[in-house]
Amino acid sequence: MKSSLKSSLKLSDSHCHLHMLEWDKLETNLEGVIEAAEQNGIQHMLCVGTLIEDLSTILEITNRYPHIYASVGLHPNEATEREPEAKEIAALASAAKVVAIGETGLDYYRSEGDLKWQQDRFRTHIEAARMSQKPLIIHTRQARQDTIQILKECRASEIGGVFHCFTEDWETAKQALDLGFYISFSGIITFKNAHEIQEVAKKLPLSSILIETDCPYLAPVPHRGKTNQPSYVKYVAEYLAHLKNLPLEEVAHQTTQNFEKLFLSRL
Ligand code: NI
Repeated sequence: MKSSLKSSLKLSDSHCHLHMLEWDKLETNLEGVIEAAEQNGIQHMLCVGTLIEDLSTILEITNRYPHIYASVGLHPNEATEREPEAKEIAALASAAKVVAIGETGLDYYRSEGDLKWQQDRFRTHIEAARMSQKPLIIHTRQARQDTIQILKECRASEIGGVFHCFTEDWETAKQALDLGFYISFSGIITFKNAHEIQEVAKKLPLSSILIETDCPYLAPVPHRGKTNQPSYVKYVAEYLAHLKNLPLEEVAHQTTQNFEKLFLSRL
């Protein structure tokens, strides 16, 4: 009888870190989390890497579940003994189920000193995306100008991608759109003090929007502060529907179509 309880919504979580979930905190296991996601209508999940070494763990997950996809990336805040070259990243990205390069980008908030290494790393990752013809998953924090400038300089518009967990202003959103990128909103959009982000979401066309959990982080209201999981992406969709005064079904359907267009149409 379980299927009769299943949500009729078609949702997608465009950015989750299933390999980082702490099972004792969630009091369940991977099967439980994926079952909960299915019950809530989640059609696709993209499990995003923050370290190159994550890829094998992520592929173990994605190989077991047809509706979970992988990305290969190195987060701007992560240290590494050796910077991978573009061709190495592109080679890893040729694995089945890898649909994107990232997360990558710039984070000046949690970094200090001369950040040229971060910019060089970002350029290398854009080159890898162009080589592998796979879209970019961009993380940017307190670095909006440099992020846009490097994307332009490296002709990232030829490959496209998404600004994940968007927390920037309207001007940045417009520039991202001009480069052919999507904007993805996380649980932050449900937070009381997120006025600027909510205003951006109101103005953006639904055809440019993705939704995500970024789990285990950033659980949306009403689970704020708890461990996040993909099924909670429904709260992001609900809030977006409320903000844009649209039916929830439409927000769910369109953001899933956007997911398919960006990540799955090149498979
Ligand atoms: Ni993330």
